[in-house]
Amino acid sequence: MIHILLFVIIAIFIVIIIFSFPQFSPVPYFPSNSKDMWRILEALAIRNDQTIIDLGAGDGIVIFQAAKESYSKKLNTRFIAVEINPILLLVLHIRRLFHPNRTNIRIVNRDMFVMDYSKLTSTDLGKFQPVLTFYIYVSPWFIEKTVLNIVKQIKIFDLVSYFYQVKCLPKHKEKIEVGVHSIFTYS
Ligand SMILES: C[S@@+](CC[C@H](N)C(=O)[O-])C[C@H]1O[C@@H](n2cnc3c(N)ncnc32)[C@H](O)[C@@H]1O
Repeated sequence: MIHILLFVIIAIFIVIIIFSFPQFSPVPYFPSNSKDMWRILEALAIRNDQTIIDLGAGDGIVIFQAAKESYSKKLNTRFIAVEINPILLLVLHIRRLFHPNRTNIRIVNRDMFVMDYSKLTSTDLGKFQPVLTFYIYVSPWFIEKTVLNIVKQIKIFDLVSYFYQVKCLPKHKEKIEVGVHSIFTYS
């Protein structure tokens, strides 16, 4: 009994450490609001020739729902979940195992602030997937850093930002959908 208790205490301690270490979670884990899910899916405009990249995918609430929609519409959209937190990565891998569209979902352990997009293979992106759509739910202090890292590597992309406006992207490309929280689309 004492062993189990000790194990539980150590496990909780490890989880707290991982979630509070800035190295793992400079942007804290907070899932997109499920009441806004249909608005988010609409903003992502899921289609055939597209790869959707969720930067800081969390537990995958958005990416797995989007992949489900793509599967039910028999589309070949590809999905990449980028995450840095080891516990959330484990959750993503387990959820992927049971997902009907798992062959189109990739989970990558990368730092979204410095991620080298050229390292994503053509298989990751899908050979004929010219449309790249990013989904971000990143605190305002880190949005610029995340988006500028995309801008300096990729010329054409769409981006959906949950909750926060992306000030470094052109205003004329911006559309705002208001739900529980705002959804900013740049395309
Ligand atoms: C606000 S949550 C959003 C989760 C998910 N995208 C959603 O909408 O439900 C931000 C996520 O970014 C992850 N994250 C923080 N810093 C990161 C980094 N440098 N690289 C990759 N992911 C990071 C966190 O672990 C967390 O899961």
